[in-house]
Amino acid sequence: MAQISTKLTRLIDINVPITCPPMANTSSAVLATEVTLGGGLGFLTADYGDVQALRQSLADARGLLKIEATGNLPIGVGFLTWKLEEHHDSSRAYDMIDAALSNKVKAIWFSFGRHIHTWIQRVRQWDKLHLQDTKVFVLVSSLQEAKVASKDWGADVLVAQGIEAGGHGASYAPPTLSLVTSILKHLPENGPPVVAAGGLSNGSHVAAFLTLGASGAVLGTRFLLTPESRYTDAQRARLLTASAESTVRTLAFDQVRGTLGWPEGIDGRGTRNAIVDQFEAGLGIEELRARVKEGTSRDDPDYMIIWAGTGVGDMTEIKGAKVLVQEMHQEIVRRLKAGAALIEAEKVGN
Ligand SMILES: Cc1cc2nc3c(=O)[nH]c(=O)nc-3n(C[C@H](O)[C@H](O)[C@H](O)COP(=O)(O)O)c2cc1C
Repeated sequence: MAQISTKLTRLIDINVPITCPPMANTSSAVLATEVTLGGGLGFLTADYGDVQALRQSLADARGLLKIEATGNLPIGVGFLTWKLEEHHDSSRAYDMIDAALSNKVKAIWFSFGRHIHTWIQRVRQWDKLHLQDTKVFVLVSSLQEAKVASKDWGADVLVAQGIEAGGHGASYAPPTLSLVTSILKHLPENGPPVVAAGGLSNGSHVAAFLTLGASGAVLGTRFLLTPESRYTDAQRARLLTASAESTVRTLAFDQVRGTLGWPEGIDGRGTRNAIVDQFEAGLGIEELRARVKEGTSRDDPDYMIIWAGTGVGDMTEIKGAKVLVQEMHQEIVRRLKAGAALIEAEKVGN
């Protein structure tokens, strides 16, 4: 299979310019490691701030990849930065970041925070002290955020997340295509790699963004439809029948489960179901919580939180994460070749 070489693949030494993002309450050690084994980069999540669970996931990943205790771990870890910022005593937040860094992970991902630069400094200080070279991914939702993250904070990779994205994101984000294009236009050529996130379903979509000048792509929703994600069969079945039109940006899910405190402008895209309908109709939150608790216990997708991006309508099968990455690799190469073949060689004599 032809190799794909982009700023991202060279920077983090991967074969396929695809990353599976940290997905709170959803990613798993086996998902992250299978994506890495497929040639991309898989991320673990610190969820909503459970350091013990994170340590366990890191140990599991190490076991799955059969890497000894002192070896580098070729996966990343992502933090919902506002959850780190909730700890007024920052040593508790540092515990979490240090758990990842002491495992010598390849990358740390920061998103949805008010003081992301201070957490980046923690990574840089650690690296200096321990002679490591951890790459920092920062999720951005506007050109302005991209400028700050790259110029002021020195982010190594910009994750340009558009409005189509599944899970949490900025309600003010432009569509992924516009966001990626404007970031590439306004940042210098030698700036950090830009990866596209939001609404992508397959290798053709990734190839389209590579031809625009992006260095890679993030697919979240697509990896929910793998046996390795923590979604239940009922949640996966709902995703398989969902269409782009059946997703909605909402805070209903956060209200119901009490995960509140997101920075201004952040909400999440999920599948419209009874939770969203009844929240919008004004049902009292306690009653709604009771219905969700009961519905979840019988695996009823109408009463479960199911995040999804707009690309969900094109996702028709459940497949192992490693094979998925390998197949997308092939599709990217096929599409890029087909694109190049559209250019006619100049005719001699013309
Ligand atoms: C279930 C789910 C959970 C997510 N959790 C996080 C998270 O914890 N941190 C984060 O930065 N992004 C999170 N995201 C967003 C992803 O980073 C990514 O931007 C998004 O999945 C891309 O859009 P797509 O789902 O249409 O591929 C999540 C997405 C999903 C689907």
